[in-house]
Amino acid sequence: MVKTQFSSRLGFVLTAAGSAVGLGNIWGFPTQAAQHGGGAFLLLYLLLVFALAYPALVAEMAIGRRGHQEPIADLGSLAGKVGKLTGWLGLLAVSAILSFYLIIAGWLLGYMSDALLRLVGVSWPWLTTFSLGRNLILGLLFGLITWWVVQRGLQEGIEKWSKRLMPALLVVLIALACYVLTLPGGSEGLSAYLTPDPQKLLAPNLWLAATGQAFFSLSIGVCVMMVYASYLDKDASLPRLGLQVTLIDSGIAFLAGLLVIPTLYVAKAQGLAILDAHGQLISSDTLVFDLFPRLFATMGSAGLVLSFGFFLLLAVAALTSTLSMLEVPTASLVARTGSSRRVASAWVLGLVLIAMALICWQFGTLFGLVVKVVTQYAQPLLGLVFCVYVGWLWRRDSLLKALAAEDETFAKSWFWRLWPGYVKLVCPLLILLVMVQSIQ
Ligand code: PHE
Repeated sequence: MVKTQFSSRLGFVLTAAGSAVGLGNIWGFPTQAAQHGGGAFLLLYLLLVFALAYPALVAEMAIGRRGHQEPIADLGSLAGKVGKLTGWLGLLAVSAILSFYLIIAGWLLGYMSDALLRLVGVSWPWLTTFSLGRNLILGLLFGLITWWVVQRGLQEGIEKWSKRLMPALLVVLIALACYVLTLPGGSEGLSAYLTPDPQKLLAPNLWLAATGQAFFSLSIGVCVMMVYASYLDKDASLPRLGLQVTLIDSGIAFLAGLLVIPTLYVAKAQGLAILDAHGQLISSDTLVFDLFPRLFATMGSAGLVLSFGFFLLLAVAALTSTLSMLEVPTASLVARTGSSRRVASAWVLGLVLIAMALICWQFGTLFGLVVKVVTQYAQPLLGLVFCVYVGWLWRRDSLLKALAAEDETFAKSWFWRLWPGYVKLVCPLLILLVMVQSIQ
């Protein structure tokens, strides 16, 4: 069987960036930046993204393209039985992310349709009120949309839709940010976002938060980038493509900050409380579903349009991410059982929906727990293991070939001088350090 491939390298970049750009960029990053001193967090985040997450991303991509199969086999061929086990864990982790991500994505559908219905004078509070029924039904709906795209195949489904949706996302994001910057309070927010306060860089949890954010945002550690890279031709330069994905991902996070942080100050100018007595964001957990709707509600029908645009933006970002999550176990199932994509992806979705239903049912206890275990521990740890495999089990000369086969000058580049040592020592040590600090 001929291995599936992206139709072009641009297709790969947009699809991988589609996976990377998601709630992590448009919700997670601005929330953290707002909490940890705006510009200071931005600087630290960018530093960690390029110095730590990007090298790890290239390592994960290298494993995928080398193996050229599905994650369990790819990792098994590099690290034997233990490697296979890591593959299974990656599959489990990505399915767990999908099961909580679908719940939030469902809420986005709810808020988006609510704004649209209100524009035509209809009000249906069910859509925006927390309930077991709403969480289940809208999560299921988002899951079905994801499945519909994934079962169509790589080029006709995931790649095609990511290529359409990513530019649309950029347009909506820029339009919303420009509009918000013209509102009273917008420019104050802009300077709060862009002026770093170096004092804040010393805050103890800041580095942990920024590292976790960087790994989550680049979809590292759960085999997504491994599977996508296995669909690349063998001549594509992984460091270059990985860099493009990283630039798009951090660029969109930066732009999202330009939208969200000024919006907070617009809310403040409207008299809505955004910070408590300690300067902390009052609704850090629910910034998107609490503060924003309250702000939009003060703006009449312009607020409804804004609200629709905002939730549409988030839903698009979420969809290109859920596509990648469903693709990983699907690719394994197809390769290991020989079943069709349609059937395999339906099975995976079915299992994920059961997990999602469990989380919805015990939302108070399970949701936060699953998010924490998977994003703060499983993702960085699996990322660490991938770096160790690449750094310690792979011979340096064949690694060189594996990264950039077509590129003769590559062996002299700064990337190649730094990177092998990085994935061998620096990345694992830094990740460990962050983990240990977080456990304390
Ligand atoms: N990177 C995505 C985001 O920022 C989340 C994600 C994590 C997607 C892991 C796939 C795998 O929202």
